[in-house]
Amino acid sequence: MPKNIDVIDFGNGQPSLSLLPLDALRTASEHCMRRASATMLQYGADQGDTEFRESLAHFLARRYSMPIAADDLMVSGSASQALDLVCTRFTKPGDTIFVEEPTYFLALEVFRDHGLHVVGIPIDNDGIRIDVLREALTRHRPSMLYTIPSFQNPSGVTMSVERRDALMEISREQELLIVADEVYHLLDFGIAPPPPLAAHVREARVLSLGSFSKICAPGLRLGWIQGAPTLLHTLMNSGLVQSGGGLNPFVSAVMRSMIDLGLADSALDHLRRVYAERSAALCSALRDGIPTAVFAEPQGGYFVWVQLPIAILATPLQERAATERVTFHPGSRFLSRDGFADHIRLSFAHYDTPLLIEGVHRLARTISRNATHRS
Ligand SMILES: Cc1ncc(COP(=O)(O)O)c(C=O)c1O
Repeated sequence: MPKNIDVIDFGNGQPSLSLLPLDALRTASEHCMRRASATMLQYGADQGDTEFRESLAHFLARRYSMPIAADDLMVSGSASQALDLVCTRFTKPGDTIFVEEPTYFLALEVFRDHGLHVVGIPIDNDGIRIDVLREALTRHRPSMLYTIPSFQNPSGVTMSVERRDALMEISREQELLIVADEVYHLLDFGIAPPPPLAAHVREARVLSLGSFSKICAPGLRLGWIQGAPTLLHTLMNSGLVQSGGGLNPFVSAVMRSMIDLGLADSALDHLRRVYAERSAALCSALRDGIPTAVFAEPQGGYFVWVQLPIAILATPLQERAATERVTFHPGSRFLSRDGFADHIRLSFAHYDTPLLIEGVHRLARTISRNATHRS
C-alpha cells in the first residue's frame, strides 16, 4: 500500500500523467507535419480551420450518434475560454444569469469576472428542477442559463430526456440562451447519456461547449462551440477573434491528424475504461471504509459527490484531513451562496486505484477522529 505518498488531493480534477496520450500525439504531429501546408502557421479563419471542423464534425457525429454540420462548429481555445467569450458577447455587467445548484466552481469565477449576478436553480437526480426554473423565470430575466447536462461537475448527475426536452421548450418559449457545458458527455462508462443539448442547436438558442481537455489532454487548450450560425457569428464578431483570428490553427491541425488516424477515438476509449475502473474502485473503498457516507455511483465523468455521515461539516473536516495528508473540495465551493456544507467532491481522474483506496483510508481515519473529537 503506498502509504508514503504525500498529500492525496481528491480535489485534483486533472488526469494522471500516465493517461496523457503522448505517443499518439507524437504520431499525429508527425503525420500533420508531413501533410501540412504553411497555412496552419498563418492567422486562422474566424470560425477555425475548415478541414479540422470537418474532421471534428465526423468525429462528433460518430460519438454523439447524430448528424453534425461543420458549419455549426466554431473552434475554441477550451471550454473555459469559450465560456468567457460567451459571457463577453451575450451578457453585460450586472445581468442576471441562472446556473445549476451545485455547479462547477470555476465557472462561477468566470461569471464573477464579468460582473454577473448569479441565481442558482437546484438540481435533483434528473438534473435541473424545471418547476423551480419556471418559477424563477417569473421573477428574473436572465441573459443565459449555464448547465452541465451530462455527468455534472460536481454531482455526477445526468439530466433526463424529459428535463432536456422541457428545458428546450422553455428556451424556445422565452428565447432563453442555454449554454450547455458538455465537456464530460463523451466520458460514459458504458451507457451513453441521452443525446447532448448540442442536438438542439438548430431549433433553440443553445450553445454547446466541448473540449479536448477531458477526452484527450488539457494541455492542448483546444475545444469547440456548437451552435446555430447566427449565434456563432455573434461570437466571431468579438475583438478577440477579429484581432487574433480563429483560435489555435496549429493545434487544430495536429488534432485533425489525431482524429483522421483514429487516435482520438482510441485515446477517448482508453480514458473511459480507466475512469470506469477508478470510479468503481473509489466507490467500493467508500462503501467499505465510510459505510454511512451517501453517494450515487457515477456512470461517467470525473467525480463522486458524497454526503458525509450525519452532522459532519466538510470545511472543518478539511482542516483535520490535512494531518492525515488527504484533501478534497468541500461542497460549499460549488454554490454562489452557502449550502451543501455536509458534501464533498472526490475526483477519481488523477490517481490510480491503490492511491484512491489509500486516500479513502485517510479520509475514513479523519472522519472517525472527527467523531471522537465531537463526542
Ligand atoms: C464543467 C467543466 N467545464 C469546463 C472545464 C474546463 O475545461 P477546459 O479545460 O476545456 O477549459 C472543466 C474542468 O474541470 C469542467 O469541469
